Amino acid sequence: MNPIAAILAEAPVVLAPMEDVTDAAFRRVARGLGAALCVTEFIRAEQVIAGAALARRKAALATDDRPTAIQIYGADAGLLMEAAVIAARARPSFLDLNCGCWLPRVARGGAGAGWLRDPAAMVAMVRRVVAAVDLPVTVKTRIGVGPESAMPIVDLARRLEDAGAAALTIHCRTAHAGHDGAADWGWARRAREVVAIPVVVNGDVRDADDAVRALAETGCAGVMIGRAAIQHPWIFAEARARLAGAPPPPPPDDSERARVYAALLDANVAARGERWGVQVTRRHLPLLGPLAARLRARLLAAPTRAATREVLAGADGPAPAAATA
Ligand SMILES: Cc1cc2nc3c(=O)[nH]c(=O)nc-3n(C[C@H](O)[C@H](O)[C@H](O)COP(=O)(O)O)c2cc1C
Repeated sequence: MNPIAAILAEAPVVLAPMEDVTDAAFRRVARGLGAALCVTEFIRAEQVIAGAALARRKAALATDDRPTAIQIYGADAGLLMEAAVIAARARPSFLDLNCGCWLPRVARGGAGAGWLRDPAAMVAMVRRVVAAVDLPVTVKTRIGVGPESAMPIVDLARRLEDAGAAALTIHCRTAHAGHDGAADWGWARRAREVVAIPVVVNGDVRDADDAVRALAETGCAGVMIGRAAIQHPWIFAEARARLAGAPPPPPPDDSERARVYAALLDANVAARGERWGVQVTRRHLPLLGPLAARLRARLLAAPTRAATREVLAGADGPAPAAATA
């Protein structure tokens, strides 16, 4: 069986790669809350090859950080091959090639969604990377550059399968759309219909109901969740319960939210040292939900792990009285 299909058959919910979000600490939390498969933040091929400290940290996988794919990006097929060989040494579950990033700093030079401007070159690049490593290679891309009338994705899916891609994630927007406008999951369905490899649908999955609907409407092997998981990583457990026909897990209360924030804090401090770890964890304030308004100022001011934990320990206490005019 296709190795990615096997993972998704267990549970079809995937944590999207997100720069500055889906690091080892967040992957651990997401996996603990039901994400069946994780993908690292994207890592520039040139930085992998140079052995840059940041690239090494992003590509480092703990033994329990599985199944996780390492995602790389770049504009040059030769460099991507070289980077793939190096990244494969970390023994990720597979390698993912980013052909979907729309950010001008990435796509303008031909990396990320830049590949969509030349589908033939993209297919040739994927073929070379597949031949260079002994791991499955997958591709994450968008439906096309724009406009919607000229979408290459269905034909491209067929050609990427032929080039040896082991699976395909489709962010159902054009590169021009960035994150604007509604994602059209119909493209993932149409692409899925023409290939045998697993297709993962991505874009605009905001809650567990959306995840179930995206899978049902597309027949895809998996659904990838990005922004919704930043605010609400419990979405994975909720989607899995819905898919299994089980009762939904209870919504996270304050102490559960504080527990998850504390878990991120501990993992970030362990990986990055106290000062940076405490700072980086503040990116995850949104997952505190209603608690964030109450604790935000004190969490931003807390300089150490102990001080942050002390603030969190007060999370169960009564909300401070509203200021009177
Ligand atoms: C903060 C942020 C960082 C992202 N970084 C990456 C990345 O490193 N690699 C990638 O393939 N996509 C990246 N994406 C795109 C997401 O993986 C995903 O395709 C997109 O957000 C649409 O899914 P969503 O509607 O569930 O968020 C990023 C998105 C966000 C919001």
